Amino acid sequence: MLPLFAVAVLGANAYAKDPRIEEQLNASPPKIPLKYALGEKAFDKAMRSGKYYYVGNTKCRLCHRKFFLGRKKDPHDYAMKSLKEGGYDDNPKCLPCHSTGYGVPNGFKSMKETPRLANVQCEGCHGPGNRHVKIARKTKKGGGFLAGADNPKVLERMCKSCHTERWNRSYTDFHTAYKKYKNADPNKKKKIKTAGK
Ligand code: HEC
Ligand code: HEC
Ligand code: HEC
Ligand code: HEC
Repeated sequence: MLPLFAVAVLGANAYAKDPRIEEQLNASPPKIPLKYALGEKAFDKAMRSGKYYYVGNTKCRLCHRKFFLGRKKDPHDYAMKSLKEGGYDDNPKCLPCHSTGYGVPNGFKSMKETPRLANVQCEGCHGPGNRHVKIARKTKKGGGFLAGADNPKVLERMCKSCHTERWNRSYTDFHTAYKKYKNADPNKKKKIKTAGK
């Protein structure tokens, strides 16, 4: 476990030398986060229903402007850049954790086909958003996600599917890290109480 300042000081050189990349390339293919979080059965059922697809974060911006702007400053929003720097932005051993919905029908495929789903966006954590958008439009309420705020157990499993033992150096205490994401801007010190449009 390196302290964050050390990571920052090592900078770009750390990339080439990060032994985890070589390890990851030699390991078996990573889990699909949504499949892991839901369990295979529930995942297959949801996918077979044909009811879930990714809409991209510009849709979310329409009603959650504060969250959208706050997330623009969060590392999840430039996860693809980290792959591109090393030329790994088309590598299936990296994409499940650095994009939105790779390995899920209608999720990220490649920078050429689905650039609008690059990085770990809103739906990278909450799952496909089309049903939520429909429900919210009709009822002005939340709901409709496979990994929404109404299902923190599944949402926590989403985090842990990407933040595995190998890729865990960004925080020491999971629950503190998790709670920050209730805020529109997770990197702001002060907790924002309202969901904020
Ligand atoms: C038509 C407006 C609208 C759009 C578009 C929209 N939302 Fe919402 N959303 C709402 C409303 C209204 C609520 C309930 C009140 C609140 O929490 O702000 C809500 C609640 C939520 C919640 C908390 C409740 C839950 O179900 O988990 C999450 C998470 C969420 N939205 C994420 C998203 C994401 C991600 C997108 C894009 C895929 C999105 N929203 C698009 C209106 C919208
Ligand atoms: C789809 C995979 C994925 C999911 C789901 C995910 N993360 Fe991440 N997370 C990443 C990646 C990739 C990065 C590093 C991005 C970069 O620097 O390129 C990251 C970075 C972070 C950081 C570093 C922020 C910093 O300031 O250094 C924190 C904290 C974090 N994630 C917490 C969480 C929590 C909590 C959850 C669940 C609510 C979560 N993540 C869900 C992939 C994921
Ligand atoms: C199982 C999920 C997962 C896979 C697979 C994965 N990553 Fe990541 N990656 C993360 C998470 C989570 C972080 C942020 C936390 C950390 O750095 O420990 C991260 C961070 C990074 C960083 C930033 C490290 C830093 O020093 O700031 C780079 C670069 C990176 N990954 C490259 C890759 C490459 C290249 C691959 C494919 C060989 C890959 N990752 C595969 C989850 C993953
Ligand atoms: C790194 C994972 C992650 C990403 C990315 C993410 N969220 Fe969330 N979101 C969470 C977590 C965790 C919670 C808190 C759930 C709970 O209450 O247990 C949350 C809660 C919310 C809530 C409810 C806030 C409240 O009132 O408590 C809304 C609305 C929301 N997210 C919208 C979004 C939107 C819009 C985006 C993209 C711009 C987004 N989220 C991106 C993890 C994430």
